[in-house]
Amino acid sequence: MSCRICKPRGGGRGYINLFGKIGYCNNFIKSNFHNFIDVNRKNFTTGNLKSNDAKDEASFTITSDTIRIDGQSFPVDDFTNVTPNILSKIKRQLHLHQSHPISILRNLIETQLNDFRHFNSFSPIVSTRQNFDDLGFPIDHVGRNKTDSYYINRSVMLRTHTSAHQLQILSAGENKFLVSADVYRRDEIDSNHYPVFHQMEGVQVFDVAEAKEQVSCDITKIGQFNSACVLISNEADTDTSTNNQKNPIQFCHPVEAANSVGLHLKHTLNELVKRLFKDEKELKVRWIDAYFPFTSPSWEMEVLYQGKWLEICGCGVILQDLMNKAVRPNEIGWAFGLGLERIAMVLFDIPDIRLFWSNDPRFLDQFTTNEIKKFKPFSKYPASTRDISFWVDNNKGFHENNFCELVRSIAGDLVEDAKMIDEFVHPISKRRSLCYRIIYRSMDRNVTNEEINQIQLDVQKEVQTQLGVILR
Ligand code: PHE
Repeated sequence: MSCRICKPRGGGRGYINLFGKIGYCNNFIKSNFHNFIDVNRKNFTTGNLKSNDAKDEASFTITSDTIRIDGQSFPVDDFTNVTPNILSKIKRQLHLHQSHPISILRNLIETQLNDFRHFNSFSPIVSTRQNFDDLGFPIDHVGRNKTDSYYINRSVMLRTHTSAHQLQILSAGENKFLVSADVYRRDEIDSNHYPVFHQMEGVQVFDVAEAKEQVSCDITKIGQFNSACVLISNEADTDTSTNNQKNPIQFCHPVEAANSVGLHLKHTLNELVKRLFKDEKELKVRWIDAYFPFTSPSWEMEVLYQGKWLEICGCGVILQDLMNKAVRPNEIGWAFGLGLERIAMVLFDIPDIRLFWSNDPRFLDQFTTNEIKKFKPFSKYPASTRDISFWVDNNKGFHENNFCELVRSIAGDLVEDAKMIDEFVHPISKRRSLCYRIIYRSMDRNVTNEEINQIQLDVQKEVQTQLGVILR
């Protein structure tokens, strides 16, 4: 999970929306129709794309002015950028498939946090208000860009995080809850990134006046799991929760209450992680300061996996503004958002995030409800690599997420990785040239050269039409 969605202005890659021009997106949609028709010609009729034959797939229709998803209609506008490839995922709900690793993990966490109420079936289609405004995202936040999020239109989108549901549940008066769901982000292509993944949101609320007592009583109840395997680097200082200027306690909060709630949050997550990873060999976990628009102080929890620190959770003390919007001015709460794929990849030893989406029984049949078992790779099929080089029009700009989205919409799950391997500026014309290396590989079969050549031809054709680049 990449947390750029919550990074402050300028903090993420691609902050600048290079395709902000009105009119671009309409062309983008049209080309996407075209592209989809080309790729799936046998299944669809021109101009009216409908997919409802595969099990678990949403039934959707896209025309140049309307998107219909499961009977609901949405007008298309200059923000629309959802693709058939993405819409085809919204019914999969891996977190509810009993013996799927994502669901096994969800279940396990729900069992650990057994007095939290869970909500597991919210629709991924939310308003931009729920996803951003309610949570205080600044108007120019990078996550709002069309390059970074999937929009159905200007005011309706696919949620980018489970925090989109915090306000509605807090407003309903819940004090302790978990929300598990699929979330959607336009992103790079590699073994850790997929445009759909799953998060679990956790929230707990206390009375401001009684927070300190409630916390100490609750911490005793949660207890301390003795784990020799999970090493949490700064557990010792969790009771002196950082109150630095960059990651401040909120002005309106009594310091003692805020510190207690921060301590409770970290204790809850430390204990959860110790129990989840109890069989891992010496798994290193660390806390770092973070920024989210709707919490302060904020932190991230990371695990050291295969030599890399992977972020598994963002969290913090909920902004009082949000509590006030929920008409709970005398209460203080914490929230966390766990990345389920990241944790499942470590626990089940799953090397590539695309595997979670596989329907191959050699993958699915390896897992049983309530059991954590290491995945036994059935085979690694050969990769097929292609490079693509193009000149970028300096005036039109270029955003890597648009390129990746285009490759995904053509190659689907056959694309494993796409990396820029070369970039230079022509000394005289000052034009920029980029070269991307795309690795294609199927998770469950051999791909043929002809098939990849055809995909690559489609990619070459579409980058020119849709992204306005010139092939070299
Ligand atoms: N929603 C944040 C994300 O997706 C994670 C988060 C959840 C942070 C709750 C703070 C509190 O990155």
